[in-house]
Amino acid sequence: MPRRPTLPASRRSGGRSPFPADQGHRPKPKPKGDHRSRQPAHEYELEALPGLEHVAETELAAVPLARDRHGLRFWYPGDPERLGRLRGAVAAYRVRGWDVPRPRGLLGHQQLGELTDFLGEVARLGGHRSFRLGAAGKESAVMGRLAEELSAGLGLPHDPTEGELLIRLRPAADGHGWEVLARLTPRPLSARAWRACNMGGGLNATIAYAMHKLAGQRDEDRIFNPMAGSGTLLVERALLGPYDALVGVDINEAAVRCARTNLAAAGKQVEVAQVDALHTGLPARSFDLIVCDLPWGDAVGSHGGNEALYPAFLSEMHRLLSLRGRLCVLTHELRLFERVLRGQTGWEGKELFQVYSGGHHPKAYLLHRS
Ligand SMILES: C[S@@+](CC[C@H](N)C(=O)[O-])C[C@H]1O[C@@H](n2cnc3c(N)ncnc32)[C@H](O)[C@@H]1O
Repeated sequence: MPRRPTLPASRRSGGRSPFPADQGHRPKPKPKGDHRSRQPAHEYELEALPGLEHVAETELAAVPLARDRHGLRFWYPGDPERLGRLRGAVAAYRVRGWDVPRPRGLLGHQQLGELTDFLGEVARLGGHRSFRLGAAGKESAVMGRLAEELSAGLGLPHDPTEGELLIRLRPAADGHGWEVLARLTPRPLSARAWRACNMGGGLNATIAYAMHKLAGQRDEDRIFNPMAGSGTLLVERALLGPYDALVGVDINEAAVRCARTNLAAAGKQVEVAQVDALHTGLPARSFDLIVCDLPWGDAVGSHGGNEALYPAFLSEMHRLLSLRGRLCVLTHELRLFERVLRGQTGWEGKELFQVYSGGHHPKAYLLHRS
């Protein structure tokens, strides 16, 4: 039986983020040169969704880096486990280059020994149980040989489709030799441990993280997530730390169950109700932040349905938003959303980002009352 969501009484969420920088607990920068006496710095690369590189870079800014940094490539002397907890990137790799003209050169006695040591350390740190190669021509005889040698040297099975230790080979950017990238974690960083329930149309968690980071994270926010689906935006916000209230709704019973399952897996207590977001019965100005991943009209909803849904959604969110509140919306129906927005008075705002993910290129907008 659908029920009305309630606004939890004002409280602080007790959730601690797995990433200490999110708690305002910034690591003390090490004195210059100090890292050399502790751990050797290794070179790493972060992979971000195209369009969200700046979000991954900002999160990385909390990590004390060893030397100069170029884009998402950097040297880091600290515990790589910390890089495995970043939430704005889809993957983190340790990188090493070899001065060989072709991948065949990696089969040389010395190179193969160095490569096995390099990969073995990453596998030990990450607990990977199998590996796969990611390279152009990975079906070639040379790559087949390399896979065999690595399987023997690492003591891990080669699983070309599901292998946990993803090993990418590519020509070095400066044109000298080849470099090997080894993914630090058995699964991509975007595949969150809390995701016990999946739903068609579920949002990539790094996009949800980016929406919250860019919409602003305030302890005093009363936050509403209409159309919560599997709860990605709710869980990612709950993990970020304090807020005043956090509540989600979805019209679909299965989605509500799914969101609750994921929140429970994340260890977070957040109310999710089966309610039509357009008819919550909640008083005007109930929320300081409304964050929503609207139906995109393909996997979820239809274009025709969205023609009616989008204007009704904007009107109702205008009513529910506090005077200085923010509305952060993600959609792939760009033309429709922008047309509806132009046709309504009472909104001002900006585009936050456009991201490429899973064959789509949705945009996030941040709006407030004009
Ligand atoms: C794009 S999906 C959200 C996906 C979600 N971000 C996730 O990660 O799983 C849109 C959701 O809107 C819900 N929905 C559509 N119309 C609604 C309405 N009027 N009120 C509440 N939920 C609605 C659908 O049931 C669907 O779960």
